[in-house]
Amino acid sequence: MRILLTGCGGQLGRHLAPRLARLGEVIATDREGGDFQCDLSDRRLLDKTLHRVKPDVVVNPAAWTAVDRAEDEPELAARMNRAMPGWIAAWCAQNDALMLHFSTDYVFSGPNDRPWSERDEPSPGNVYGRTKLDSERAIAASGAHSVIVRTAWLYSHFPGNFLSAILTRAGQGQPLKIVSDQFGSPTWAGHLADATTALLERRDRLPDRCSLFHVAGKGCMSWHEFGQLAVERAVEIGALDKAVPVSPIESANWPQKAKRPVWSVLDCSRYEEFTGLELPSVERGLDECLAFWKESIC
Ligand SMILES: NC(=O)c1ccc[n+]([C@@H]2O[C@H](COP(=O)([O-])OP(=O)(O)OC[C@H]3O[C@@H](n4cnc5c(N)ncnc54)[C@H](OP(=O)(O)O)[C@@H]3O)[C@@H](O)[C@H]2O)c1
Repeated sequence: MRILLTGCGGQLGRHLAPRLARLGEVIATDREGGDFQCDLSDRRLLDKTLHRVKPDVVVNPAAWTAVDRAEDEPELAARMNRAMPGWIAAWCAQNDALMLHFSTDYVFSGPNDRPWSERDEPSPGNVYGRTKLDSERAIAASGAHSVIVRTAWLYSHFPGNFLSAILTRAGQGQPLKIVSDQFGSPTWAGHLADATTALLERRDRLPDRCSLFHVAGKGCMSWHEFGQLAVERAVEIGALDKAVPVSPIESANWPQKAKRPVWSVLDCSRYEEFTGLELPSVERGLDECLAFWKESIC
């Protein structure tokens, strides 16, 4: 099986590459790395890459992930998040390939008294969420055999995410103020990559058309609770010399360009029923990630 992996230099792409290699031959692409360098927002270059690689499966974590910048540059965000996945899906439909794509908990907004399931109607509250929802719809409309995995609050030991940002600051002895009125399911990129592999291993049992799964860390907490836990556990394993104060702050006092959902906890029971596998808890994800973090700073 030939697998084209996009965004191989991103945090999820870097966790996916070694796991997908157990399923087949992985051909990796990124804007400035991998086996083929390709600006995926250029349809001509993307089609050229697809025709050269002729994949059986395309795994697509590449995306515009700058949530606040998307508010200022909606056309560029839409090109990467709506148009690009639609082009891949069109190629997959024509060439009988499977597409596995990632979407986000930010397709939801507003309150709920339970975790969001795949059956709930999305209503994104920001440009990023809208462009990701558009990607889901473009893929479904293409007729391609496809899997869409919605995930949430993704983090890793690589730079450029919430966990690495707070641990870097804490390592410099800086106190932290973290939003305490947004609740979600923090997801370690390693566990999401494991779940992706589990879905691909069961591809013969997937419905012929488009299937949608929620995959996230098991549990629910605020950013503040997650930050507090991360600092505590990092100190326990010696990845931080000493704890720093972690104070709660309300979203209203932490202005961000894009509005975030107050509740974006995902119900992942469809994935667990389909695979027969239990998703790891948020705490376990954090511990596994912190072990990599510690190794990377030593
Ligand atoms: N991060 C989260 O909290 C979160 C939450 C829910 C869902 N998701 C979804 O999960 C998936 C993976 O997210 P992630 O955090 O791993 O993303 P990431 O670390 O930002 O990686 C995105 C990758 O896409 C590449 N890319 C962006 N524009 C490109 C272009 N024009 N041509 C080629 N490559 C391009 C990036 O390359 P450059 O580095 O060169 O830009 C990078 O390698 C995405 O679909 C995201 O929407 C993320």
